[in-house]
Amino acid sequence: MFQQTLLQNKRALITGGGTGLGKATAQRFLELGAEVHICGRRQDVLTATEQELRSRTGAKIHSHQCDVRDPAAVEKMIEKIWAESPLDILMNNAAGNFLARTEDLSLGAFQSVIGIVLMGTLHTTMSCGRRWLAEKRKAVVLNVTTTYTTTGSAYVVPSAVSKAGVHALTRSLAVEWGDRGIRMNAIAPGPIPTEGAFSRLLPRPELAEAAKKRIPLARFGTTEEFANLAAFLVSDGSSYINGEIVTMDGGEWLQGAGEFTALGRDLTNEEWEMMKPKPKKQ
Ligand code: HXC
Ligand code: NAP
Repeated sequence: MFQQTLLQNKRALITGGGTGLGKATAQRFLELGAEVHICGRRQDVLTATEQELRSRTGAKIHSHQCDVRDPAAVEKMIEKIWAESPLDILMNNAAGNFLARTEDLSLGAFQSVIGIVLMGTLHTTMSCGRRWLAEKRKAVVLNVTTTYTTTGSAYVVPSAVSKAGVHALTRSLAVEWGDRGIRMNAIAPGPIPTEGAFSRLLPRPELAEAAKKRIPLARFGTTEEFANLAAFLVSDGSSYINGEIVTMDGGEWLQGAGEFTALGRDLTNEEWEMMKPKPKKQ
């Protein structure tokens, strides 16, 4: 899909890059010539990913144990990275989520998810952004959100409010920092099978088939499709795209929103025939 030099000489940090979509994107960035840093809370997971991707691609990958909820830890990690060489790309991908009835949630539950998704994104963006602005360096930020930021979603309220905040951050800073060479966009994916997401959000495997029926393309997205879109959005090939939220969901949210979609799917052929205009009598 891309020339293998697409991200040559670029240095990227992917938060939550040890698993799932972050890991798949780290692999794609490495294949396209980037040097990649990944971070997360579990060092064993990070080390395994680092070793696997290094041996698979032969490219430069580094891992950092860092909880993005902690601004001091984020600043320390960014300082360490910068001491070697500045980043060109930041991908805010780390997230926390779970299905729960909102009235059952403790304050700690809200704080945990908001801390990772909204505050974590803010911490890394500010740490990198201040440095880029001071150095007059061109850079790109790619945030990972969801399709339920504009509609909201029942049962994932801490995630919904956090991801909506990330959308506002994306659009705000795209304008405020755009004139100084920093682009900021987001991908809003629909369901893509990963252990992290599906183990928390799909309590029974058979619900997957019902979930696919909500998607016009009748399947889930893949990590490869996600990683290719991410590569495009952080590359110079998308240099005039700024402040955009790119939905990647096979048309799922539009199907859910369309007034007559469900009704139309339920009608029989006979009913469609009956609704056709009757031939006019001469
Ligand atoms: C209610 C819960 C809960 C649950 C935890 N809590 N799980 N409340 N229902 N299922 C509460 C705890 O009681 C605690 O509150 C607080 O949340 C923090 O929980 P901990 O387990 O101590 O936190 P921690 O170990 O830091 O784990 C964070 C986490 C966990 C967010 C709870 O799920 C996690 O590590 N997630 C990371 C990966 C992830 O979620 N990936 C999925 C991304 S998918 P108290 O008050 O007791 O302190 C996604 C979009 C998918 O984002 C969209 C699909 C279309
Ligand atoms: P995942 O594998 O669970 O990825 C989440 C990653 O974030 C993990 O590697 C986790 O590592 C890291 N993380 C969590 N809390 C952290 C913290 N406090 N500090 C640093 N890292 C932290 O799930 P995924 O499906 O790949 O999700 C990736 C992104 O896609 C998320 O932003 C998610 O909201 C979004 N998304 C996914 C889907 C989907 O269907 N898969 C759909 C829409 C949006 P540690 O636990 O080791 O910290």
